[in-house]
Amino acid sequence: MRSDIIIGQAADGSDIPVDIEELLASRLLVQGNSGSGKSHLLRRLLEESAKLVQQVVIDPEGDFASLSDHFGHVLIDGASYSPAEIEALALRIREHRASVVLSLEGLEVEQQIRCAAQFLNGLFDAPRDHWFPALVVVDEAQMFAPSVAGEIGEDTRRLTLSAMTNLMCRGRKRGLAGIVATQRLAKLAKNVAAEASNFLMGRTFLDIDMQRAADLLGMERRQAERIRDLERGHFLGLGPAISRRPLAVKIGPVQSGPRTVESGLLPPPDVEAADMEALLHEELAVAAPPAPPPPPPRPVADVAEHIERAAPGVATAEPADMPSHTESQQAIDRILSQMAQEDGATFRSPSRLYQDFATRCRQDPGVAIPLDLTEFRRRFAIASASLDHLDPALRAQIESLGTNLSDDVLAPFLVIARAAAEGLDEPDEEELARVYGSSSTGRIRRLLDHFERSGHIVVRNEFGGGRRIFVPGLEEVTAGR
Ligand SMILES: Nc1ncnc2c1ncn2[C@@H]1O[C@H](COP(=O)(O)OP(=O)(O)O)[C@@H](O)[C@H]1O
Ligand SMILES: [Mg+2]
Repeated sequence: MRSDIIIGQAADGSDIPVDIEELLASRLLVQGNSGSGKSHLLRRLLEESAKLVQQVVIDPEGDFASLSDHFGHVLIDGASYSPAEIEALALRIREHRASVVLSLEGLEVEQQIRCAAQFLNGLFDAPRDHWFPALVVVDEAQMFAPSVAGEIGEDTRRLTLSAMTNLMCRGRKRGLAGIVATQRLAKLAKNVAAEASNFLMGRTFLDIDMQRAADLLGMERRQAERIRDLERGHFLGLGPAISRRPLAVKIGPVQSGPRTVESGLLPPPDVEAADMEALLHEELAVAAPPAPPPPPPRPVADVAEHIERAAPGVATAEPADMPSHTESQQAIDRILSQMAQEDGATFRSPSRLYQDFATRCRQDPGVAIPLDLTEFRRRFAIASASLDHLDPALRAQIESLGTNLSDDVLAPFLVIARAAAEGLDEPDEEELARVYGSSSTGRIRRLLDHFERSGHIVVRNEFGGGRRIFVPGLEEVTAGR
């Protein structure tokens, strides 16, 4: 089978081939400043080889989605899947030799990195029977294999570096050929860059990147200036799949085209200021995103129980010398709220807390029957979310929204819902950390993601970095407050 593709033309107009079979064995590194034409180059390579080999694209900016229209790549929106699902998808992609684009566009940076790493690990861990050859293209690779720690969490950095190192250093045996593009060589982890034997170097401004590029191309430092003068779409190539000597190439046209963004100048439209203002505000309310759907109705049994709790004594009659149901519940509430306010209580294990609770109940003559562990955990969560000062209807509403949440995440949800009911944009971070029993910002972010996926909250990021957290189902109660 023919394994060459034409990547572009030399200065004299002759075609420059790239040997894809060779590329699978020797990998490729592309460098160039933003706008130098890296993504275009990757697209040309992908389009021309789409019929020859399976392709997997890690696409942080949503640039490659249109490959699916022209070449049948399956589009995977990273934001729609859990980590476990992303890994499972990666395994199936290997099994079925599907060409895909993993779009990370809808995610925050750290989540983009984690999603890509999880996905790459899945590709890498596929069983031996599924080690088919595939190009794995990673655009903006400095994000996924950063040379210095930067702002991402340490565990994320380790996760992604090991995934990228696996791809570039140990992927070959498994059929995976890494093709990475970066704006700056100095920002890309050295061991990831070092594994590529083919290079395409585009326009580069900074001396440090230019020198490293010249070194990789085996050019003398004096000649490195050439790299600064390259035009958009022009690259210097070297490597077993391209050429034995540095070779200038102008990358050829593409069929699928990136998302076009108008560049250059475009005069503003000729519209009166007042008309423009009207245009922008016309039916704005209709254009704004609709309110999230209300939560499912509360199960009848729950409501009945709630009513019984609020109006006790109707259904149960205690012997005269025992505290009444109401008295007992009040005593329990007292103990719970006392415990919830104690320093460090939420950081203790549930079983320790429960033991403590049981002891206090035994010593309190007001308590008729203590709670079992399950009931205790829910009531403790409710107590630590300090809902007492809310009006009873609102409180019941908030509690009912959390009915199907597990005990360990109930308290933080209630705190979020309380903040929303009080008209705050988002809950107090410290309080959230306290009731969740964890001050790890990473854990709390994952918790919010979890609530968002399960539809318990809607997060709206606003310009200027602010955000608002909405709790679907609270609107009717809080409207007009
Ligand atoms: N070889 C080329 N031929 C035609 N247009 C190109 C070529 N290379 C890049 N472009 C155009 O230049 C712009 C920037 O290219 P892009 O690939 O997005 O750069 P980068 O990914 O390096 O930031 C895009 O609009 C792209 O279509
Ligand atoms: Mg790009």
